[in-house]
Amino acid sequence: MGSPQTWMVTGGAGFIGSNFVLRQVALGTRIVNLDALTYAGNLANLAALGDDSRHVFARGNINDRGLVAQLLETHRPTVVVHFAAESHVDRSLVDASSFLHTNVVGSFALLDEVARYWRQLPPELAASFRFVHVSTDEVYGSLGPTDPPFNETTAYAPNSPYAASKAASDHFVRSYFRTWGLPAITTHCSNNYGPFQFPEKLIPLMILNAIERKPLPVYGDGCNIRDWLYVEDHCAAIDLVARRGRVGEVYDIGGAAELANIDVVESICQLVDDIAPDGGPARKGLITYVSDRPGHDRRYAIDHTKLRSELGWQPAQNFASGLRRTVQWYFDNAAWTHTVRSGEYRRWLDTNYTQRPAGSP
Ligand code: NAD
Ligand code: TYD
Repeated sequence: MGSPQTWMVTGGAGFIGSNFVLRQVALGTRIVNLDALTYAGNLANLAALGDDSRHVFARGNINDRGLVAQLLETHRPTVVVHFAAESHVDRSLVDASSFLHTNVVGSFALLDEVARYWRQLPPELAASFRFVHVSTDEVYGSLGPTDPPFNETTAYAPNSPYAASKAASDHFVRSYFRTWGLPAITTHCSNNYGPFQFPEKLIPLMILNAIERKPLPVYGDGCNIRDWLYVEDHCAAIDLVARRGRVGEVYDIGGAAELANIDVVESICQLVDDIAPDGGPARKGLITYVSDRPGHDRRYAIDHTKLRSELGWQPAQNFASGLRRTVQWYFDNAAWTHTVRSGEYRRWLDTNYTQRPAGSP
């Protein structure tokens, strides 16, 4: 057996990145993990790795070109997977500057340093090298009720500052492939859920509030639709794309699970009632309609035919099985929840919810 491959991951202490790192190390890949540990990054996500020498953690910013260059030179990765980002739409509505700084300027700095590293690789290694840029379906904008799902040819129409910043980084990645031949691949994924998701996003926020019998704040009429994908299925797709995807291509990744927010929240209430019956009233009574998110995209849905037909990927979890696992995980990991709900988290709840007037369905 040859020595294990080394891959570099950015944002590997965040939600999807940490699930990916845990998975890849278990599969035998050596991972160099560059993460700034913002409010969304947490080393507790990686605690299961202990001091496993196959995981090298570097705390730092993707904007730090010197550090990026040094990590690339020292560890000589064959693949770089770029997850690091500011990822929460609601935060981008309060202040988008960190989105510009990380998602646009930082992604560009990383890309440019990766290209510099790639250019000096011996031809065989340069040909097999991959840069996988993890983007989002939100760059495509919003679908009407009868529109076909997004696919790889859908025109960009980002509506939030978050989506705009991801779209900008996608264009730089495309340009580095077209201009310099950097072997880059971009993925657009739908909404993820699963273990280690920071509880500012819909599913973990609702699970924790339901467990604690706090109000469940549903934006607008609750009929916005998202296409939910279990995080481990997303990680499996990224792995396949890195190993077997075609360079310069784009792959869309979705869970084939389109659901209205209100249906997601009601399913969570039912699961929490089932797992922890406490004699109290049904948790769905905690649902509280609040004022809508400005510019709130109505519907996302992904057609993942290309990924399925080219690389044989399909999600292993459906929404019912994935949601049950996720709710159970939050029940079983109260210590993790306690760790991530820092003072910063409480400040965010105050910013986003205290000022929101009541809404109606
Ligand atoms: P997350 O917010 O949970 O984690 C982001 C990670 O990046 C954190 O660990 C943070 O510390 C790190 N980070 C932020 N700024 C950094 C910087 N300047 N330098 C280095 N590290 C930095 O995000 P996530 O939900 O895991 O999303 C990961 C990627 O997947 C993002 O690029 C996001 O746009 C994309 N994506 C997410 C979803 C989803 O549903 N969560 C869906 C589609 C695409
Ligand atoms: P979110 O998890 O923030 O993901 P995104 O905005 O990237 O899709 O939100 C998912 C959906 O849930 C979105 O339509 C907004 C809605 N939502 C609520 O209704 N209440 C909430 O408290 C949050 C955080 C989201």
